[in-house]
Amino acid sequence: NILTKNSISPQEYTVSQEQRSALKGHKPLVVWFSGLSGSGKSTLANLVEKKLFEKGIHTYSLDGDNIRTGLNKNIGFTSEERSENIRRIAEVTKLFIDSGTVVIAAFITPLKADRETLKQIVGEHNFVGVFVNTSLEECERRDVKDLYKKARSGEIKNFTGIDAPYEKPVDFDITINTESCPTEEAVERILVVVERRIISR
Ligand code: PPS
Repeated sequence: NILTKNSISPQEYTVSQEQRSALKGHKPLVVWFSGLSGSGKSTLANLVEKKLFEKGIHTYSLDGDNIRTGLNKNIGFTSEERSENIRRIAEVTKLFIDSGTVVIAAFITPLKADRETLKQIVGEHNFVGVFVNTSLEECERRDVKDLYKKARSGEIKNFTGIDAPYEKPVDFDITINTESCPTEEAVERILVVVERRIISR
C-alpha cells in the first residue's frame, strides 16, 4: 500500500553475510524436505541436523507442526493458506541464511508454485531440495497421528494426498525412496551434498 511504500526504507547493516560466514567457517544453506504427512521428513531432518551439529556446523531446524503452533498458528490448510505458510517460512529461512546458518526445514510443501516462490525468496544458490518419496499407501498404513483415518472419514478436510493435492517435486536435488533406502544411507546421501555446498560454491 501507498503508506508503507513511502514510509519504509530498509537500513544498511554494517556486518555482512560473508563476514558472519567467515566467522562460522562455512557457508549458509537451506536443506528443504518435502513429502506427504508421515513420510519421514522430520525423522530425516533431525538426523541430518544432529550429524551436521556434531561436525561443528551452525544449524537450525524449522518444522511444520512447530511453526504451526507458533509463528503460523493462524494459518490453516486451504491452498491459499499453505502458500502463505510457505511464504512466511521462506522469509524466516532467508533471515537465518543471512545469519550464516544451515537451516533444516521440513514442510509438506505440496504445490510446485509455492516451491518456486520459496526458491526465489531464499535464492536458488542457497537451496538444496530433498523429496521424501514415501507412497501414500505407506504413509496411510503408518498413520502415526491418526490423521489419514480422520481425513478418510471426513473429520479433517483438505488433507494432503486424500482431498488435497501433492505435486511431486521433479527438480529437487535428492529423492529418497524411504521404502527401499535404509535411513542411515539416506542421511549419508544428504550429508555428502550438504557438505559440498557449504564448503565450496
Ligand atoms: S504445508 O502443506 O507445507 O503448508 O503443511 P505443513 O506446514 O508442513 O504442516 C503439515 C502438518 O500439519 C498436520 N496437518 C495436516 N497436513 C496436511 N493436510 C492437512 N489438512 C493437515 N491438517 C493437519 C500434519 O500433522 C502435518 O505434519 P507432518 O509432519 O507433515 O506429518
